[in-house]
Amino acid sequence: MKESTRVLIPEDQIDERIRQLAEQISKDYAGKTVHLIGILKGSVFFICDLAKRLTIPVTMDFMSVSSYGAGTKSSGVVKLIKDLDEPIENREVLVVEDIIDSGHTLSYLLKNLSSRHPASLRLCTLLDKPDRRECDVEVDYQGFQIPDEFVIGYGLDYDQRYRNLPYIGVMSLEEE
Ligand code: PRP
Repeated sequence: MKESTRVLIPEDQIDERIRQLAEQISKDYAGKTVHLIGILKGSVFFICDLAKRLTIPVTMDFMSVSSYGAGTKSSGVVKLIKDLDEPIENREVLVVEDIIDSGHTLSYLLKNLSSRHPASLRLCTLLDKPDRRECDVEVDYQGFQIPDEFVIGYGLDYDQRYRNLPYIGVMSLEEE
């Protein structure tokens, strides 16, 4: 099968939208320190670009979960692979994700984090695929709503590749 890609969201649009999100978040958290939690690995590009544009004090931590069994679609089973380094009790926590698809990962994560008693807990995702939702997840900050297509780039992978593309693309597999 031949992999082909086309641009869905170009780099300059991602950049502009992140600037807008950062401005809004900086206003909403004025006078506070926001504790960003990045969900590895997909969110790394987004969390870095977002954090650089925030004008409030920022701290950061990372978690890694696996929501997909053996190369298939979402299994609904979420496994914690790497936990946070620090407690989040009484902190203003903002979870930063690259994409919400079925919602299983975030539904699990938000429950898990909420049980640790943060002062506040909000969610920021670059991409949202509402058509695919199986679990209700409240999104506080969203970059773009996208259609149900297989997206890659800007952190998102196909078989661990393409994460480094500077834009969001759609990948399709074609017969050679
Ligand atoms: C992606 C994404 C979310 C999750 C969303 O991660 O970063 O964590 O899937 O899917 P869901 O809403 O259906 O649960 P993935 O498991 O692909 O890992 P990665 O970030 O390391 O690529």
